[in-house]
Amino acid sequence: MKILLLGNGAREHAMAWALRRSSLVTSLTIAPGNSGTAMLGENVPLDPTNVPAVLDLVSEKKIDLVVVGPEAPLVMGVSDACREKGIPVFGPGKKGAFLEGSKAFSKNFMKRHAIPTAPFDICTDIGEVKKALEKRRAPYVVKADGLAAGKGAFIIHDLQEALLTAEELLSGKKLGKAGETLVIEDCLSGMELTVLAITDGENIKALSPSQDHKRVFDDDLGPNTGGMGAYSPVPWVDEPLMEDIRKRVLEPTLSGLREEGIPYCGVIYAGLMIDENNQPSLIEYNVRLGDPEAQVVLPVFQGDFAKTLVACCERRLDQIAWPETERTAVDVVMASGGYPGSYEKGFPIRGLEKLADREDILVFHAGVSDDGHGRLVTNGGRVLSVVGLGQDLKSAVEKAYSGVREIFFEGMHYRRDIASRASL
Ligand code: AMP
Ligand code: GLY
Repeated sequence: MKILLLGNGAREHAMAWALRRSSLVTSLTIAPGNSGTAMLGENVPLDPTNVPAVLDLVSEKKIDLVVVGPEAPLVMGVSDACREKGIPVFGPGKKGAFLEGSKAFSKNFMKRHAIPTAPFDICTDIGEVKKALEKRRAPYVVKADGLAAGKGAFIIHDLQEALLTAEELLSGKKLGKAGETLVIEDCLSGMELTVLAITDGENIKALSPSQDHKRVFDDDLGPNTGGMGAYSPVPWVDEPLMEDIRKRVLEPTLSGLREEGIPYCGVIYAGLMIDENNQPSLIEYNVRLGDPEAQVVLPVFQGDFAKTLVACCERRLDQIAWPETERTAVDVVMASGGYPGSYEKGFPIRGLEKLADREDILVFHAGVSDDGHGRLVTNGGRVLSVVGLGQDLKSAVEKAYSGVREIFFEGMHYRRDIASRASL
């Protein structure tokens, strides 16, 4: 099978790694890919949101299946365009991608289908915002409706500051069009959890639960990032809780999509808050695998990833084997000095060769490029995902950090407490 994978992060490197393990895959093209995916297939420089260019590549390479990594091409309608040409695609069409592309749509969808979520108001002017904020208590949650690359949610303690943020969003100053509509909602407390599920539109199956670490510094301090690490599975998530998540979140999502006539083949990412009574609430949907969650969930997935995606496109996910997860994975993200603020690029990365043949330590590339002389240099904020695999969390943590210790680039920083609160 000839597969085209769209995207260029560590998530896509992990997806390429998982696809390559399947005997089904004879050729893998990644667009645009990165230095990591180049080791697993052929990179083609192309903007995955450029739908006509993707279609050209699909026919040039005689692609049998397109797999979409990030949300932007989905929201742009790349899946619809491929399907119109009869090309199977793993990733929802534009309508389904709206679950991530519009927070107002997704919150209303949750409400229509009685999926537990924080009570909310949708506001398009400052008068409505004021009313919505005044009926709540601090901390206030203000979110931009549109895609904002993880920068669209604000949790603010001061009412005046919340109003000011809302004003800046509404005026377009802060996030452009993405902020023209806002969601104001109650602030939830508890433990955050990611459940990634795969659906063919008729069946939905959950992958192993995971937890992301969004803040840049240890103990969840400092600004938010794209994610500084993750681990999977999560020891405090037991089968009754997973069953609750399936029954109250995943299955109603699927039946809601069906009722509303939205075809969906792809990932449902449930970003959850689990409260002190072990009750789940849905914070948000994404319509693709999480980054860095994919870097831990795919290595512990015991099934055949390529076969699973093909089965999804053929609406027979129910026939696919779904073995229990036996290992634990821990991902430590190594970032450039200054990230998530501004940072310099182009520093040589040393030590990767020492980890090249390890099966228990995987290194997925994100902001890495080849300097033209075959040397790998830093080229982004999040540079590498170093994943340790073990029989339990403790050994996976040790493996991940032993991998991190082999690697060096100027200015690098990473969290030292990934998974340390896992057993709370
Ligand atoms: P979102 O853009 O919806 O993914 O939100 C980003 C992050 O903000 C989430 O991962 C949570 O950590 C936090 N967050 C969002 N909404 C809420 C909420 N209602 N209550 C508490 N935390 C929230
Ligand atoms: N890890 C958060 C996300 O992928 O959106």
